[in-house]
Formats: sequence, C-alpha cells, structure tokens
Amino acid sequence: MENGFFLITGTSRGIGEALAQQLLEKGNTVLGVARGRSDTLKSKKYHHLAFDLADTARISRIMAKVDEVVANQRYDFICLVNNASAVEPLGSIERCPPSEIESHIKIGLIAPMILTSLFIRKFSGDNIRKKVAFISSGSAYSALPHESIYCGTKAGINMFAQCVGLEQKDKEYGFEVIRIRPGTVDTSMQQVARSKNRDEYMWVDVAKQMYEKGELEDPAKVAERICSILDNQYHQGQEVNAWEV
Ligand SMILES: NC(=O)c1ccc[n+]([C@@H]2O[C@H](COP(=O)([O-])OP(=O)(O)OC[C@H]3O[C@@H](n4cnc5c(N)ncnc54)[C@H](OP(=O)(O)O)[C@@H]3O)[C@@H](O)[C@H]2O)c1
Repeated sequence: MENGFFLITGTSRGIGEALAQQLLEKGNTVLGVARGRSDTLKSKKYHHLAFDLADTARISRIMAKVDEVVANQRYDFICLVNNASAVEPLGSIERCPPSEIESHIKIGLIAPMILTSLFIRKFSGDNIRKKVAFISSGSAYSALPHESIYCGTKAGINMFAQCVGLEQKDKEYGFEVIRIRPGTVDTSMQQVARSKNRDEYMWVDVAKQMYEKGELEDPAKVAERICSILDNQYHQGQEVNAWEV
C-alpha cells in the first residue's frame, strides 16, 4: 500500500488523524474531511476539506474535492474510510436535545451513506483495487442505556455496510467492503465520556476507570493495525477487530 488514495472522514484528531498520518508515511495520498484541521498532518500528499458532515445536503462538495485531488493521477488502490462520529448526545433520551440527535445521525449515518454512494459511483468503472471501510463499534450490538443515539446510529451503519458489501460482491470491478472495530481508544471521544456526571451519563465511572488503569489503546497503535486491515482481504462486509490483528 504505497500508491493509494484514501478519503478519510474525521482526520482532525483521534483515530482518523493517526490513520491519515500512517498512510501518508507509507507514501499514500490522503484527503481528510473534518470541521477542524490537525496540526500534525503536514505532508504534501495530505489534502484537507473543512466540512461539516451534518450538512448532508452538500456532501457532493467532498466529491468535487476528490475530483480535484485525483485528477491526472494514477493510483493502485482507492479507499473511503467512514470514520467520523459524534459522541453527543449522551444520557437518557428525554434529555437529548432534538438538534443534537439530528446532527449525530446525519454525521454517523446519513453522511457516510451518501458518501459511500457517491464514492462507489465515481470509481465504479475503474479496474483497480477499491475499498470502503466503516469504523464500527461494539455499541452496534450492545443495547446501552444513555448511549441510545450512538448505539442506534452504529447499528444502522453496520447493517448498511453489510448490504453494500453483498451488492458489490459479484460486480465486475466491485469494491471490497469491511467494518473495523478499533477497540477502546484514548481519544477525545473518551474524554467527553469521562467529563460527565453519573446523572448525565451512567457509564462515567467505567470510562474513568479504564482511563486510570491505562486500559485505553494508543491511537497510533490502533491506526497501525487499521492500516494492515485495509491492506488485507476479508469476506464482503466482514467486521474485523483491530486488537486481534
Ligand atoms: N475512541 C473509542 O474508544 C472508540 C471506540 C469504538 C469506536 N470508535 C469509533 O472510532 C471513530 C473515530 O473516533 P475517535 O475516538 O477518533 O473520535 P474523536 O477523537 O472524537 O474524533 C472524531 C472525528 O470526527 C470528526 N467529526 C465529528 N463531527 C464532525 C462533523 N460534524 N463534521 C465533520 N467531521 C466531524 C471530528 O472532527 P471535527 O470535530 O474537527 O469536525 C474528529 O476528527 C468513530 O467512528 C467512533 O465511533 C471509537
């Protein structure tokens, strides 16, 4: 994986930033999308689009930037990594503000669905290795009180990924589709969870304990494993646990 093009959402920090960094170090081109921008992604092969994924009516702006970056370039591998996610709203559903519920679902479900559709459409005729990856979570399977919006969104995108994987399976020049569970990682998502009180978020003590016991994974190590997973081949729609690689 040296001459790949990677479109990654959520590269301003956390897992997305660490993944972009490692892919760039291997010589790949990365287009990152997030509202903010990382200070560490300085490579000439890094392109950034400041964009709010909750603005789902304008997702085509991302593809316009893809056109700009890939114009007149030849890549051996192209890949979309749907990584960005919101963490809020946490807490009992009657306390979740409607605007936060809507924006969470747009970022975690609608934006990756539209982006996946546009990305596959754009490159469908290209006879090179192609992949769409979704950063998944155990929350897609575990019904956790106080995480209903996060769990619901992850469960939805999880099923979407499997459906698209089956669609692509027998296509000429089809895309590989995989889901990747990163493990519990030391990012701002965990920081937000730790910052709540018990009334706001019932898992706050678990989040604090994991942090204090040093049980959170280093984003750079997780990104290294995600790189290997992106390079390997799996069954269509398969979910791969990064900690087992
Ligand atoms: N950390 C964990 O323990 C853990 C566990 C399981 C799964 N995951 C999954 O791993 C993925 C990455 O999580 P992380 O821990 O790295 O989270 P993070 O540190 O909070 O980073 C989230 C990224 O998503 C971007 N993002 C959020 N809202 C956005 C918006 N409206 N528009 C554009 N970009 C937006 C953020 O950029 P801006 O704020 O700059 O826009 C940021 O770059 C997520 O899918 C998460 O569900 C994480």
